[in-house]
Amino acid sequence: MSLTLDSSARTAEHAQMFIGGSWTAAGAGQTFPTVDPNTGRTIAQVPRGDSSDVDKAVAAAKEKAVEWQFTDAIVRAGLLRELAAKVTENADELARLEALDSGHYLAKAQELVGAIPLWLDYFASLADKVGGRTIEVPGNKLSFTLLEPLGVTAHIIPWNYPLLILVRSCAPALALGNTCVVKPAEDTSLSALKFAELVKEAGFPDGVFNVVTGYGAEAGAALAAHPDVAGITFTGSTETGKQIAKLAADHVAQVTLELGGKSPTVVFPDADLDEAVEVAVQGFLSHAGQVCVAGTKLFVHADVKDAFLAKLTARLDETRVGDGFADGTQMGPLISQKQYDKVTEYIEIGKGEATLFYGGDRPAGTDEGGFFVGPTVFTDVAPSARIATEEIFGPVASVHGWTTEDELVEAVNDSIYGLFAVLLGKDITALLSTARRIQVGGVMINDWFGELPMTPHGGHKQSGTGRDEGLESVHNYTQVKHIAINLDPLRAATDWAGAPL
Ligand code: NAI
Ligand code: MG
Repeated sequence: MSLTLDSSARTAEHAQMFIGGSWTAAGAGQTFPTVDPNTGRTIAQVPRGDSSDVDKAVAAAKEKAVEWQFTDAIVRAGLLRELAAKVTENADELARLEALDSGHYLAKAQELVGAIPLWLDYFASLADKVGGRTIEVPGNKLSFTLLEPLGVTAHIIPWNYPLLILVRSCAPALALGNTCVVKPAEDTSLSALKFAELVKEAGFPDGVFNVVTGYGAEAGAALAAHPDVAGITFTGSTETGKQIAKLAADHVAQVTLELGGKSPTVVFPDADLDEAVEVAVQGFLSHAGQVCVAGTKLFVHADVKDAFLAKLTARLDETRVGDGFADGTQMGPLISQKQYDKVTEYIEIGKGEATLFYGGDRPAGTDEGGFFVGPTVFTDVAPSARIATEEIFGPVASVHGWTTEDELVEAVNDSIYGLFAVLLGKDITALLSTARRIQVGGVMINDWFGELPMTPHGGHKQSGTGRDEGLESVHNYTQVKHIAINLDPLRAATDWAGAPL
């Protein structure tokens, strides 16, 4: 039965898992609530899948793996394009579900859903364009590789960009001939379930795409540990990423991990300060700071620090925080009580180890039951302070001064994370010199991060391994088969003696 949204009541019904092309409750009959973070009220009950449900979904995906592998690439691409059309037709409902379940304000959720077809189309286009290579070997032989799908791939999704992160890994997986089992985050299952309906309507064979809802420690861990899962793509916390990598190691599954960050926004002395403030604010207030690439450490050159802070204060005063369905909202709530408790605890820690420069409190006029935290900025922050080294995942930034490039590079690189950086200035030599020296997976110069299907995204150090998106992501969903053909009669192939084995 299809998931139905009652927009005015802010509730949904018929949230069911999608296994082997059928809608189903959890085998054990359990459910859990998913809530509207604007109010704390329950939107729907969602099936609480466990290892037995994961077993069924993986079995369904495994049963279809070979058929899907040998389905013509052009057919797989056509289905992804049909799915893109379905997403466009259903964009309004998908965006409302996403806004309600995840706390993205509605206009942002509409933008995000509106962009989903770009990912589906980009990876549909790759289906028949990537392949192996031919290799020059000694002798009268032909040697070449095939890029083959892995088989069953698992996709463990976080709650910050639920549909986008699902699509950015499932689209290449499906395009390249893998079958998928998705485990959405327990806070945000609804858009994945609606998307599954569209997958079915688009005409994908049953079993190629499956969704098991449930908690991380139950459904998520069972999926990562399943011996028939050949590849796992995960976005989320570094801690959970490490656990998933350990589970994957037990059955030698390939992992792609996009993990935590503590990313710098660097203001050079020649930066346009109005633009720098705008980018900095986007950097730590987008989705209330619940973004892997959030620019939560503001490195501002000493010559412009006072002027920057004055402009920052004025800009933060204008930020409209509130219910995601109210007109003009620019920043919504945090995802959950758990995240609210984490962020407010870090603000208390910050008060003890630095100077609270801005905010730190609950924004006026927000729903008592919602998980709202206002924009918060700390100054006088020691490099070793917890608020300067640990991922907070809320609208909280720390300001750090700098004078020389060496000092800046050392401070930026002094982190267990290495996901991303934004550099703002005019002297391109200085900007590119810093860009080369910092240990991060992505650098944006004079821009804020705009996620795109065609550019690789991922981190150095404990921010992850492998890359989502771009041509680089092909490696997450393929494995190499080498084929060699001897073109001489076997008896004449005298180079055996000269071969090392
Ligand atoms: P998490 O990393 O635990 O959750 C992400 C996903 O992993 C969810 O689907 C969850 O059910 C699943 N999961 C949890 N434990 C698992 C396990 N043992 N085995 C398999 N799957 C498991 O993140 P959580 O607890 O929701 O948030 C905690 C912190 O993680 C945040 O405060 C933030 O710092 C970070 N985070 C980072 C994200 C990013 O985009 N890099 C996204 C979400 C959270
Ligand atoms: Mg929710």
